[in-house]
Amino acid sequence: MTGSACTARRAVSAAMLTLILAACQDDPSAPATELTAASRASAVRSSLAPLGKAVFNDENLSLRRNQSCASCHDAAWGFSSPNSRFNAAGAVLPGSVRDRFGNRKPPSAAYATQAPVRFFDDVDETYVGGNFWDGRATGARLGSPAAEQALGPFVNPVEMALPDPACVVFRVSKGRYRQLFREALGRSGQVLTFPANTEALCAQEGSKIPLSPADSTTMMAQYDLIGLAVAAFEASPEVNSFSSKYDAVLAGQARFTPDEARGFGVYNGKGGCFACHPAAGPQALFTDYTYDNIGVPANPENPVYVGNPAFLDLGVGGHTGEPSEHGKVKVPTLRNLTRVGMRAGRKSYMHNGAFKSLEQVVHFYNTRDVLPACDAVARPRFGVNCWPAPEVTENVNTDELGNLGLNASEEAALVAFLHTLDDGYQARGHAPGGI
Ligand code: HEC
Ligand code: HEC
Repeated sequence: MTGSACTARRAVSAAMLTLILAACQDDPSAPATELTAASRASAVRSSLAPLGKAVFNDENLSLRRNQSCASCHDAAWGFSSPNSRFNAAGAVLPGSVRDRFGNRKPPSAAYATQAPVRFFDDVDETYVGGNFWDGRATGARLGSPAAEQALGPFVNPVEMALPDPACVVFRVSKGRYRQLFREALGRSGQVLTFPANTEALCAQEGSKIPLSPADSTTMMAQYDLIGLAVAAFEASPEVNSFSSKYDAVLAGQARFTPDEARGFGVYNGKGGCFACHPAAGPQALFTDYTYDNIGVPANPENPVYVGNPAFLDLGVGGHTGEPSEHGKVKVPTLRNLTRVGMRAGRKSYMHNGAFKSLEQVVHFYNTRDVLPACDAVARPRFGVNCWPAPEVTENVNTDELGNLGLNASEEAALVAFLHTLDDGYQARGHAPGGI
């Protein structure tokens, strides 16, 4: 969030409202660009969710039939990367062709569908909405960023790597769940006849599936429908379960421990976290859908540097070409930060996975501008006696973070609070009313 703190803080929890109103009295005209239900309206129909789920989990929809959306967005890991070995290092996962990598960490595919169609907020001077770390799935075409996002990975050479959208439509129409696809097409829906060698062509990179112009148009409409179905699944309660301890506390079914409660206070107070990750009442998503450069250092283990040592992830600016957006990336949800599908599973944080624990993240927010630069220290220890320079030095937010003045126990309390945002609280054996 780059605008004034008061406009940034408009979407906080009811409990904080009095405090915020008091703090914002100097700016009574602060406009309320609320994310209304209307701005979230889209062509995503919940009836498409079963098809979307089948597609999301279908490894056949990749070049080598070895990778699905779920391979990089695993439910048991909060719909994020389930690979501890990679998370502990470069944090970027290989694609269907195993020696190929993208250059970013998979964010959670949960809680992403409520991002509005991207727009530029002139008051806060920031983009709002869209999907991907750089917001390039704007949602403008289909009315849903997540639906547009879903059409990317199938044909991205470093992800599922199919050579042509027609291959996705073809394989979905042959999938075990083809009946769901037919139903989604509806009575008027045309089942396309693909060329006899489609199967062979789809196993071959660089192929184009020859279709007549009319069939091509129909095929692309069906491809869009597949994107909308995936978004419908991603919008479903199965993916957005709101089943964390935080939700239970809000519903009066559990109580925070003293540490968690103190951490929530830090979150909404001295820590200033809510300015970008608002805890706005029930079903809060802990993001305001804006973009910022918070000065995260490069992750030297990112495989991108092997072929391209000078790589710089310019975030939104890399996609829009605006220098004022260089280095800004999406404010992610904070749900399921530590949810893992196996004992001692490892996660990583930020667009490049540079941080490996929440303790490190919180210490960074607290001391980014306090500890010296690692270049200037004789025996640099990441996050202990120094922080490396930001990956992108332009547009770093120095107003809202970097020197929070938290002591060690406040940092620990904040981390304890963040743990309450992992889904599956009651499923982990916590009875309503417990702590
Ligand atoms: C090889 C791993 C991989 C596969 C396979 C993959 N993703 Fe992703 N996903 C990523 C990465 C990496 C990003 C971030 C890319 C970026 O920002 O440029 C991402 C971003 C996303 C986002 C954006 C979330 C947000 O908050 O902006 C969603 C949603 C998502 N993926 C869903 C899917 C779906 C649906 C599929 C299958 C069609 C899929 N992913 C396949 C790695 C993967
Ligand atoms: C000025 C806006 C802003 C403020 C204030 C802010 N954040 Fe963030 N947060 C971001 C952005 C932007 C990212 C992504 C940065 C990146 O990937 O380079 C992020 C990422 C994170 C992540 C990593 C999530 C993931 O999935 O990788 C965590 C955890 C986090 N923030 C927690 C906090 C906490 C705790 C506070 C308060 C101490 C806080 N944030 C304050 C903007 C903010």
